[in-house]
Amino acid sequence: LNLQEKINSKILNNPLRSISYYEYMKSALYDPDFGYYSRPVEKIGKQGDFYTSSSVGSVFGETISDVFMEMIQALPDDIGPCLIEFGGGTGEFMYQVLQEWKRVNPSLLGKTKIVMIEKSPFHRQKQQEKLAGFAVLWYEEWELFLKDHQPIQAVIFSNELLDAFPVYIVEKCAGSFREVRITWNEKTGQFEEVYGDVSCPEVLDFLHKEQNQIPNIEGYRVEVNLDALHWLHSITDGLQAGFVVTIDYGFLRSDFFIPERRKGSLLCYKSHQVFDDPLADPGKMDMTTHVQFSPFMEEGENHGLTTLGFYTQSEFLINAGILDKLQSHDDKDPFHGVLSKRNRSIRQLIMPGGMGETFKVLVQKKGNFKARLAKLEKKGWV
Ligand SMILES: C[S@@+](CC[C@H](N)C(=O)[O-])C[C@H]1O[C@@H](n2cnc3c(N)ncnc32)[C@H](O)[C@@H]1O
Repeated sequence: LNLQEKINSKILNNPLRSISYYEYMKSALYDPDFGYYSRPVEKIGKQGDFYTSSSVGSVFGETISDVFMEMIQALPDDIGPCLIEFGGGTGEFMYQVLQEWKRVNPSLLGKTKIVMIEKSPFHRQKQQEKLAGFAVLWYEEWELFLKDHQPIQAVIFSNELLDAFPVYIVEKCAGSFREVRITWNEKTGQFEEVYGDVSCPEVLDFLHKEQNQIPNIEGYRVEVNLDALHWLHSITDGLQAGFVVTIDYGFLRSDFFIPERRKGSLLCYKSHQVFDDPLADPGKMDMTTHVQFSPFMEEGENHGLTTLGFYTQSEFLINAGILDKLQSHDDKDPFHGVLSKRNRSIRQLIMPGGMGETFKVLVQKKGNFKARLAKLEKKGWV
């Protein structure tokens, strides 16, 4: 069976003859044989479909490595700290961090367990190649790591993980909500959207909490990322003490549900172009939605996490000292010189209106230990 046939059989086996967007996206992105993230094809960087902050330059990981160093040193007991990255893609970010630790604090590197939790076999392999010089543990799932290692004191990091989770989609209809679902149209030979009742109790619960924020505009679309909340639960439950650092594009509630976002935030990427038809080529494109940071933060607070800070990427990196990494240079060739390239990366990572503002950084903490993190404190003009 190919991916289209596999999705079709799910549709046929469903009594409604349709499946939720969640199920559709799960197959399109993570089907073990044909899903976008399972296929052995470059996704991140020039040869792929999209860039991420670590593909902009090593200064991203280098700067954050200083924050991690402070966090690891602040952990309450010396039970062998862990630095854990979820969904590390090509391994570029962790490579940048570990290279920097090796340079400035090799003993910390020696005593910290480095763990990569990555669902995609293709990305796991890329990470293993990239990080070959370091002692790293790989797991496909958090639960498998938990079985082997308890208790856990850790810094848990992710960049653009939550935006890659499948979501439910609902739409405002006559003062209430209906679910957007996917079916197969035999005549056109294409997938198409149909409507159904919202049946998942957790989606209903989410809508109940957010209903006053969602504009009363007919057809207004809301993506419900339950997996992001489930992910936060499971890591919080497994963590005895530590920090959770989550970077992604998205907004707090007040900026999320604005009338302009009436079509939702779901977008597809292929060869650095944006497409807005997620049904056209399942498995061949990345599909992503913006993160709703408010419910995510509150879910954390209800499950024993304290919010230490919510920053734009620009604020976070400047607090962490990225501007100290700017270097003066007299490169003859401002476009190809190493130093001018590095300075350009810094600019790109903190640029207002670009990556510096679209990306947000949430820092949460579990445990009653005292942690004064100088690298999170406000610096200079931000
Ligand atoms: C958009 S990519 C981001 C890659 C990388 N963090 C970066 O910034 O370049 C999302 C990554 O998360 C992985 N992923 C998705 N769901 C996951 C999960 N539940 N656990 C671990 N990794 C996951 C995907 O396989 C993919 O490698």
